[in-house]
Amino acid sequence: MWYNIRVMKINTLDRAKKLSGKRVLVRADFNVPIKNGKIQETYKIEQGLPTINFLVQAGAKVIIMSHLGRPNGPDKTLSLKPVAKSLEKLFGKKINFFSVGDKEINGKKLLDKFVDKIKSLPNGSVTLLENIRFIKGEEKNDSKVAKALASLGEIFVLDGFAVAHRDSASVSGVAKYLPSYAGLLMEKELSGLSRLTDKPKRPFAAVIGGAKMETKIPLIKKLLPKVDCILLGGGIVNTCLWAKGYKVGGSLIEKKYKKEALAYLKNRKIIMPVDVVIGDARGKKVYTAKIDNKFKISDKNLAIYDIGPETITRYAKILKNAETLAWNGALGMFEQSPYHWGSYSIARIFAARAKGKEFGVAGGGETVEIVKKLKLTEEIDLVSTGGGAMLEFLSGKILPGAKAVAKK
Ligand code: 3PG
Repeated sequence: MWYNIRVMKINTLDRAKKLSGKRVLVRADFNVPIKNGKIQETYKIEQGLPTINFLVQAGAKVIIMSHLGRPNGPDKTLSLKPVAKSLEKLFGKKINFFSVGDKEINGKKLLDKFVDKIKSLPNGSVTLLENIRFIKGEEKNDSKVAKALASLGEIFVLDGFAVAHRDSASVSGVAKYLPSYAGLLMEKELSGLSRLTDKPKRPFAAVIGGAKMETKIPLIKKLLPKVDCILLGGGIVNTCLWAKGYKVGGSLIEKKYKKEALAYLKNRKIIMPVDVVIGDARGKKVYTAKIDNKFKISDKNLAIYDIGPETITRYAKILKNAETLAWNGALGMFEQSPYHWGSYSIARIFAARAKGKEFGVAGGGETVEIVKKLKLTEEIDLVSTGGGAMLEFLSGKILPGAKAVAKK
């Protein structure tokens, strides 16, 4: 099947024929949070399973590449070994774990030896390579690295949507040398996100939280013509209030975005909170304040940490009426009670409406964390694995990964 995703036609996995016995190189994104060698959250790995299963069922010899973190050369703390274990548990099948590093990339004989090893594995075998970012030149899309990686497989499948915005050797580089397809996750993400940008059903309500204006401004700009409203929350609200001249105490603000904040606030589609929760970082001294002429936080030890109850009610009314819903970014500092209320309430309201007749997409690191914590993943049409990739896609950028698996 061909999908018309934005202006591109994507080569989907069901077009790959005669997979039995073929070496299929898969770029996944298993960049999961790890603390002291322990995986904190497996959502990205779980989402990668359908493609692996598909290939295994078809009798392919699967070789998976992924990155973990942002290493500067080989780094034991960022090894994918724990991911291999987790994958083995989730997949219920043995996962081979091999390291292809600079030595193999630069030495044809070593690389050939490795290919022979893969060839000797039975059909349906799955191999995970060590953190692909341990290889010098991977992130810079060095053509030598791309070519060497491509020689490991006969077909390339890009499934890690979350890394599709990176122009790396293992993402877009290898696609130059092999027939390339979008994996099932990649296809699901691209077609789901396209439903937000291509003729979305109205009313279309977007919730945008989080703190980084740098990533939210292009998103707001691109979404504004498509949506009926954007409900704001999180740290970006602080900058908006400060830009309007309010005293916001010790709240996190980004002064350099004052002009943009003021410009967007003039737009009728942008909905600001009507009240906020103020307190100290430890959640001890907490109170709610309406945003009116008297609004002022003079104490530098106090800051805005969440949207208030009246805002939640107001946002709920809008979301309950929406036909298309999108959410990116926490509404407050949800890690610290009681500042989780805004994000948790909106998550529940959002999930109640984001599947079935209506269509909903939630995405971004913190958003996924909240959705997972509240066990709402199944209640939302698409919980995107992409943080930066989702933002870049919705901001109108062509992702190098999507281009790599597009019709040539
Ligand atoms: C992510 O976590 O957003 C992706 O895995 C991409 O990681 P990166 O920002 O380090 O490229």
